Amino acid sequence: MTLILGIETSCDETGAAVVEDGVLMRSNVVASQIDLHAQYGGVFPEVASRAHIEAIMPVVEQGLSGAGVTLADIEAVAVTRGPGLAGSLLVGVNFAKGLALASGLPLVGVNHLEGHVYSLWLAGRESPVQFPVVCLIVSGGHSEIVLISDHGQYRQLGTTIDDAAGEAFDKVARLLGLPYPGGPSIQRAAEGGDPAAYAFPRALRGEGHDFSFSGLKTAVLRAVQEPHSGKRSPKGEGMTPDQRRADVPIADVAASFQAAVVDILVEKTLDAAAAHGATEVWMAGGVSANTALRATMRAASPLPVRYPPLALCVDNGAMIAAAGYFRYRAGFRDELDMDVRPLWPLTTIAEGMGRGGVE
Ligand code: KG4
Ligand code: ZN
Repeated sequence: MTLILGIETSCDETGAAVVEDGVLMRSNVVASQIDLHAQYGGVFPEVASRAHIEAIMPVVEQGLSGAGVTLADIEAVAVTRGPGLAGSLLVGVNFAKGLALASGLPLVGVNHLEGHVYSLWLAGRESPVQFPVVCLIVSGGHSEIVLISDHGQYRQLGTTIDDAAGEAFDKVARLLGLPYPGGPSIQRAAEGGDPAAYAFPRALRGEGHDFSFSGLKTAVLRAVQEPHSGKRSPKGEGMTPDQRRADVPIADVAASFQAAVVDILVEKTLDAAAAHGATEVWMAGGVSANTALRATMRAASPLPVRYPPLALCVDNGAMIAAAGYFRYRAGFRDELDMDVRPLWPLTTIAEGMGRGGVE
């Protein structure tokens, strides 16, 4: 039995978890900073690093005690090295280094996106994975379609050329006056809305595997400023601009926006899966919590669709411990001079194999 301690501080969640053999979650403690950042409508980097400093010690202690273990039972310390906010990453990385130094345990730096991929292992796999699979990683910072041909073998098939999907949810929520984080707010607001009320753009449709969400955001802005102009069945003639602005049908805008994002995520992921002979379609990251995305992907996919349980969609230490386990098993170790990598593409993680990883 191999127990890995995983530590995550790349953005606004401080996480620590103990995972057994890469698949069994023994503990998973997450301290969220959502309340701190809500007033800014997004993550404020300096506030985030300071909050990590306050939270890291108790979160790691609870991660260990919740699993009923001490550091003496742990085989390696895995920590998110990037991508993410530099000041936030540094808190987790330095804490993990301190633990590794004091205990003599090996240190394993983990790519945050690979962590999201391994949240699917923690969901409890009933059957062995038949590679290749295609995974849609959608979070506040990333929208990527990745071909996974084996553990640690990634090829990026598509990415966003502007905003990430989660970022689009967050920005549109702000436009609509809905609270941060935008994803859950929009999902809730969309419940009573008509997804066909507005014909919002599906950018780059049928044109390769890359995404673009900035035009969609602009279209929503236009709908908010002129609520009836883009509507399929215009009303509001004879109203003043002020009357029209006060009349924004939030539920319809939210539902139509969500449908536009979901349609394009689903179409492009399924196109990529078909083009590359995938055996399964996976989704991970904060936006994979979206119920419309899950339902639409399941309905449209000819292949089995998998996604993590809700608690593992957002950032957490368990996914880092799981990814760290597979990396550790493959022989990856990092030295105590390991630096953070705020922009670390998933496709280059094979670099850094063995001791003294390549920067
Ligand atoms: O993976 P994550 O916790 O952090 C990053 O690595 O970025 O993802 C956070 C993102 C936020 O943009 C949030 O609005 C979005 O995930 N999100 C959702 C939902 N829940 C969280 N987006 C759409 N629908 C949701 N239900
Ligand atoms: Zn994340």
